[in-house]
Amino acid sequence: MTMETKIKQIVRDVNDFPKPGIVFKDITPILKDAVLCGEITTALAMQLSAVKIDVVAGIESRGFLFGMALANLLNVPFVPIRKAGKLPHKTIQQSYDLEYGSATLEVHEDAILPGQHVLIHDDLLATGGTVVAASKLIQKLDAVVAGYSFIIALGFLNGKDRLKAFSENNFALAS
Ligand code: PRP
Ligand code: ADE
Repeated sequence: MTMETKIKQIVRDVNDFPKPGIVFKDITPILKDAVLCGEITTALAMQLSAVKIDVVAGIESRGFLFGMALANLLNVPFVPIRKAGKLPHKTIQQSYDLEYGSATLEVHEDAILPGQHVLIHDDLLATGGTVVAASKLIQKLDAVVAGYSFIIALGFLNGKDRLKAFSENNFALAS
């Protein structure tokens, strides 16, 4: 079975969550399968083998799950990009819209050094609003967006198109 088939079989569609009309992709069943978690982390790293990466940035909250595992496998630092008000030290902020609302992301201003190549990881790409905001944070710190890595990229919301302005490196294990 391909990785894409495995992911599609295990991810659960939840209708009308968190709002009516949204079909929510629930990745929590993946987390119950330790073997699959290892395979996903390896597959994410293999897709990125040609990409220069100094840091992996994962987006709260579901981007933390495999983001840290990926950084560990690539032997690079992990940086959490969090929702507003959660990080304790000095931060920079960026607001954005997503499929079912709006929010603000923050990163510690000393988390990423100027010129570092930062791979942005999240569990899922929908409209792209979240990772565009994360990309703007990285650029505000004079760092480089090395690329994007997702477990699932939803095709129908055209999120992929919005990322080309920052990097051509855009990888997902399933759509
Ligand atoms: C979800 C998902 C991505 C984002 C994708 O996170 O984990 O971060 O939405 O949507 P977009 O491409 O339209 O921006 P959510 O904001 O629901 O937060 P959570 O991970 O804390 O549940
Ligand atoms: N984030 C944005 N849209 C989503 C969806 N349909 N399922 C899970 N996470 C999401």
